[in-house]
Amino acid sequence: MKLAKTFIAIAVISFFFASFITAEEPTGKDIFLNSKCNTCHAIASQSITSKQAAKYPDLSTVGDKGIAQATLVKYLKKEVKLNDKSHPVKFKGEDAQLNVLAKWLLTLKK
Ligand code: HEC
Repeated sequence: MKLAKTFIAIAVISFFFASFITAEEPTGKDIFLNSKCNTCHAIASQSITSKQAAKYPDLSTVGDKGIAQATLVKYLKKEVKLNDKSHPVKFKGEDAQLNVLAKWLLTLKK
């Protein structure tokens, strides 16, 4: 019996660590969708659609604009302007997520 209990304990612990190690970090795309950025922006190149695509810029080539990652992060926190305009919404998640999101957006190029 003792052996069986030990075996079960090891199995449970291994399972716990295995799921911990393989738990995937959200990608920039996940964060984009979870943050509902696509209520306004489409990203056609990523098959992301927006019902308001006609009103807001598509971000398919935002990485070609020469925006620095640090600037984009601040822009999405409404700390700086781009083209003399503030972003209409402020990012509400954690900084770490915003960095992943900004980094991913800047990979979107023609
Ligand atoms: C309420 C609508 C709305 C939402 C939601 C929104 N945006 Fe925007 N976004 C805009 C508008 C409007 C602009 C353009 C502002 C301007 O004219 O300069 C913009 C501009 C941008 C730009 C710069 C585009 C360029 O070509 O200069 C980026 C990058 C961006 N948004 C990313 C995001 C991200 C990431 C999210 C989600 C966290 C998001 N936006 C959510 C409306 C929105």
